[in-house]
Amino acid sequence: MATHAAVVTVGPGLPLEIHQVPTPKPVGAQVRVRSEWTASTPLDLHQADGGLLVTHPLVLGDGVAGTVVDVGPDVTLLRVGDKVFGFTWRNQAEKAHQEYVVAPEFLFGKLPDGVTMQQAVTLPNNFVTAWHTFTKHFGFELPWPNPEGYVPKDADEAILIWGGSSSVGQYAIQILKWYGYKNVIATASRQHHDKLRRYGAVKCFDYRDVSVIEEIKNYATGRATRPGIPYILDCIGSLAGSVRPLAKIAESGSKVAVLLPIIVKDAAVGIKPEYSMDVEGCADWQPGVEALGVRTHFYIDNKFLAEHLQSEIMPTLLAKGVIEANEQIVVEGQTLLERAEKALSMLRNKAVSGARLVWRVSDEKS
Ligand SMILES: NC(=O)c1ccc[n+]([C@@H]2O[C@H](COP(=O)([O-])OP(=O)(O)OC[C@H]3O[C@@H](n4cnc5c(N)ncnc54)[C@H](OP(=O)(O)O)[C@@H]3O)[C@@H](O)[C@H]2O)c1
Repeated sequence: MATHAAVVTVGPGLPLEIHQVPTPKPVGAQVRVRSEWTASTPLDLHQADGGLLVTHPLVLGDGVAGTVVDVGPDVTLLRVGDKVFGFTWRNQAEKAHQEYVVAPEFLFGKLPDGVTMQQAVTLPNNFVTAWHTFTKHFGFELPWPNPEGYVPKDADEAILIWGGSSSVGQYAIQILKWYGYKNVIATASRQHHDKLRRYGAVKCFDYRDVSVIEEIKNYATGRATRPGIPYILDCIGSLAGSVRPLAKIAESGSKVAVLLPIIVKDAAVGIKPEYSMDVEGCADWQPGVEALGVRTHFYIDNKFLAEHLQSEIMPTLLAKGVIEANEQIVVEGQTLLERAEKALSMLRNKAVSGARLVWRVSDEKS
């Protein structure tokens, strides 16, 4: 069987390696995509440094942009030569930090005209995460297509996006604006407040301010139709940095969706990170607060979203300009391994603020 190069974590905290892995022929409704651009996300760090839910060796990465080079016999939407982007993660052949990705066509959207692969590859996992959280954990309808004049049931309720400048946070705020949610508030460093207001946040707070908890509670009082903040999305999942502060903000009736894992100890050079998956037990939530752990991988349990979210909704909203891609930091390096290691090191050193790390996988020009 043909083989190709893949970026692999071989053990927690060990240097990444390049392995030659099999290049499967697509079957059924699968396509084979030459992976041209990928993104590095905190999950890569959780897996490579923390060994989170990993059986080593493991190919890293779950966001890909590239060109379809082969299709299975049952493929109906895509053709050889199509430029696509997608969130693909379920097995080694689907992982993104390798020269070829083989996955079913429903996990890809076509790259819209005028959008580069570098821009598009910032979306897949976190656009899907925001959508999945709103529909599964908050019960928001997010009807597709979005009917003209649609007003959501909770249009005026306060929705707090903690970590609004994170990749997930930026997509979350933009999706809410498009559906007509009018009372979205966010935390982020001050330098990102203008952008988040443009995306639809009515008020931004700096999470580093000592009085941020009181400020948010005071602001929310009287601005929603019911007291407190009924919906809270924790895009950070840091025990000290977001979960514990949110336990002081959430009141009876609040739903708090925390993106897993909860980071108990951050990764750093020479430091093994620690994680928890126990959202309910990790903080002193007030009685009546519903604390929920988010795992985006389950979005495909929703048949409609499995079939439409990546193949249709994501590229359509990007093409229409409803969703603006995250800013990108292009990670340069002579080799695939160098780019992957450099991106991981930037995540470890917390060198990312309001942007997504993207890098070229294949050195072949498209
Ligand atoms: N379970 C799942 O299915 C799932 C899916 C997707 C993501 N996640 C997890 O969600 C987390 C975020 O992912 P991401 O890709 O969106 O991250 P990201 O874009 O890399 O996040 C970077 C941002 O985090 C912000 N930040 C850091 N500490 C903060 C704090 N204490 N309070 C508020 N903001 C803070 C920084 O804000 P400033 O620059 O403004 O300072 C920075 O812009 C990761 O841990 C990831 O693994 C989980």
